[in-house]
Amino acid sequence: MSRAAVLCGLGGALPTTAVSNEELAGQLDTSDQWIRTRTGIRSRHVVAPGEATSDLAVAAGADALASARRTAPVADVDLVVLATSTPDRPCPATAPDVAHRLGLGPVPAFDVAAVCTGFVYALATASSMITAGVSERALVIGADTFSTILDPVDRTTRAIFGDGAGAVVLRAGEADEPGALLGFDLGSDGSGADLITVRAGGSRQRSTGGPADAGDHFFTMDGRPVFTQAVLNMSRSSQELMERVGWTPADLDKVVAHQANIRILHAVGEQLGLEEKQIVANLDRVGNTVAASIPLALRDAAADGELLPGHRVVLTGFGGGLTWGSAALVWPDLAAG
Ligand code: COA
Repeated sequence: MSRAAVLCGLGGALPTTAVSNEELAGQLDTSDQWIRTRTGIRSRHVVAPGEATSDLAVAAGADALASARRTAPVADVDLVVLATSTPDRPCPATAPDVAHRLGLGPVPAFDVAAVCTGFVYALATASSMITAGVSERALVIGADTFSTILDPVDRTTRAIFGDGAGAVVLRAGEADEPGALLGFDLGSDGSGADLITVRAGGSRQRSTGGPADAGDHFFTMDGRPVFTQAVLNMSRSSQELMERVGWTPADLDKVVAHQANIRILHAVGEQLGLEEKQIVANLDRVGNTVAASIPLALRDAAADGELLPGHRVVLTGFGGGLTWGSAALVWPDLAAG
């Protein structure tokens, strides 16, 4: 039997403050109707002043660890991987602080930055470390607070993005167990780096000598090409992964795709030949929570009884970089956080 990483805990956390479309329409030239029909989003959560990505990551991590303990007595995790593109500060990584505040001891802890694909990249990293025998049990967190880097007057990005954190616990197990991560498909295309970007704050802008241009510290996105690339790459990546693990689209019960826009989810579903009920969606309540998107969608779908033990599930993400990635598993019987 071959060693595999097995999903055994699931949790999440959202900031307390929810912002409805109507509230946004009171501040910007937009409307509930535009946002709902063009994106499917009704509301999103935003952090309070002073609340940071690590605060959400700690809450989601604690929730996932509690869920793992309810499913089966588990020993402490020996690895923390945090997917985020909004770390508390540029240096050091946020994961060691999260591990420390969760009381996990001197475990290896590091950040993975792949924007909205971050969670799938982090899952692949932790899974590989488990199958290689480097780790026995890993906490994988996706957490972002994009509200802290959005341009306050950009109606498009403010309508779409929300803050949050989601987390899973992985343990070493066997490849034929429910919950075992059966395979990954990962990719990138750096020629699209400017489509989703924060221009300032890194080594490139500093090397020009002068202060950054006004606005360059804000997140920008070129929505239309991103939309097209998201559909293309999530569909292709899911299909290639299914071929690799020996599933046909008819075998698939649920696809849990990055929650960016309901029209993207429907287009991916169409490409994969899925019915609407097979596509997990919670973006109406949370918007695009970047690295938190897929684990929060998993948490909500498990809590709502949409994801059931034995379901064949593909997770698929797309984001800045450009990056994309997919993972396949049979859904385990676990107690959500
Ligand atoms: N309210 C009202 N109007 C808005 C708006 C808002 N919140 N945001 C954009 N618009 C306007 C635009 O200014 C534009 O107006 P114009 O025609 O006068 O120039 C019009 O709506 C159409 O803009 P467009 O960008 O073509 O809209 P769209 O239908 O492509 O929807 C997105 C925009 C951003 C919702 C969509 O492109 C999208 O979801 N892209 C992918 C986002 C994504 O996946 N991001 C994360 C990937 S990691």
